[in-house]
Amino acid sequence: MNLDLNLDLTTLKKLSNLIFEFGFELRFDNFKKVVKSDSILNTTIAMSTPTLVKPFLKWAGGKSQLLEQLRTKYPPALKRGQIKSYYEPFLGGGAVFFDLIQHYPLESYYLSDLNEELILVYQVVQQEVEALIEFLRVYQHRYFSLQQEEEKKEYFYDLRNCYNQSRFNINYKKLSEPWVRRAAQMIFLNKTAYNGLFRLNQAGGFNVPFGKYKTPKILDETNLIRVSKLLQQTALQVADVNEIASQITAPANTFVYFDPPYRPISKTANFTSYHRVAFDDSAQIRLANIFKKLHRKHAHLMLSNSDPKPLNPEDTFFERHYAGFQISTVSATRMINSVAQKRGKINELVITNYDYTY
Ligand SMILES: C[S@@+](CC[C@H](N)C(=O)[O-])C[C@H]1O[C@@H](n2cnc3c(N)ncnc32)[C@H](O)[C@@H]1O
Repeated sequence: MNLDLNLDLTTLKKLSNLIFEFGFELRFDNFKKVVKSDSILNTTIAMSTPTLVKPFLKWAGGKSQLLEQLRTKYPPALKRGQIKSYYEPFLGGGAVFFDLIQHYPLESYYLSDLNEELILVYQVVQQEVEALIEFLRVYQHRYFSLQQEEEKKEYFYDLRNCYNQSRFNINYKKLSEPWVRRAAQMIFLNKTAYNGLFRLNQAGGFNVPFGKYKTPKILDETNLIRVSKLLQQTALQVADVNEIASQITAPANTFVYFDPPYRPISKTANFTSYHRVAFDDSAQIRLANIFKKLHRKHAHLMLSNSDPKPLNPEDTFFERHYAGFQISTVSATRMINSVAQKRGKINELVITNYDYTY
């Protein structure tokens, strides 16, 4: 975006501080004084808007690497300014939310996930970011002061035990002091655990092993503060996707992005257990029905999932359950084999109920 402006120095300073706070990049072109007055500057401000505020958690299936491709598939109504509300009911790391909030002036953002540990962290970042930063500072300092990998590993497992034990004493319904420590522990584990995964076992305990990172960024203070500012505009909720769908009051002005746990494409790539409740084919079908119901109410809908076709050309699951909608693919680099820890290119599906090609 380019703006031609005549500004006095004080306004210019205020403007650049404001813009910096929101994480935009500002470039001043043709920066020259106008003859009439010393203090008036005539400048062209080129405001590019890269997504400077990033997801603060690493999340399996995260969409940061796909944003360029996903942007081209956002609803045209969004670009025309006709969308007022955004819902992301499988929030995870929230990459699409962070992209949207920094590029489109929507009125309301409703973020939710079934994982109460995840929403607890978002709520602490939203409401108690300073206290959270202090905890993270201590964890980071301690971790970096340990020289040997074995010592770091021991610290990781102590903290993981503490995190798992203390869940029995947490009231997940109401933000209270113990939430802050818990959120800091979750962020610490997310940055230091293997591959930045967050996985719970059947009993609800965090069970990802130590990640052997030498200097993980446990505390990214600037980003956390910016995230906290953005989250002031959001409503956060622990909820099943079904419950969220029934809360949408003005569907025609609403954009919903669904990023459910992916349908496994092979037996070795079945990472669908972000939560202790599995997301099996019957859950995928329930989701397709939610999609159709919201479509009938004229909501703008985008959904991601895995593409089974390269491994099994006969698999018509998505064609059958999303018949009549626009199904396209994007290319992602993912862990393709959990046994051999191989990364490779795979296709992912993007399903929309609108045409974005015009
Ligand atoms: C693929 S991840 C989301 C990735 C995320 N959009 C990102 O970009 O990082 C799927 C999420 O769905 C959540 N989930 C699983 N079952 C759910 C359900 N029935 N309702 C709502 N959320 C659910 C999991 O806790 C997990 O965070």
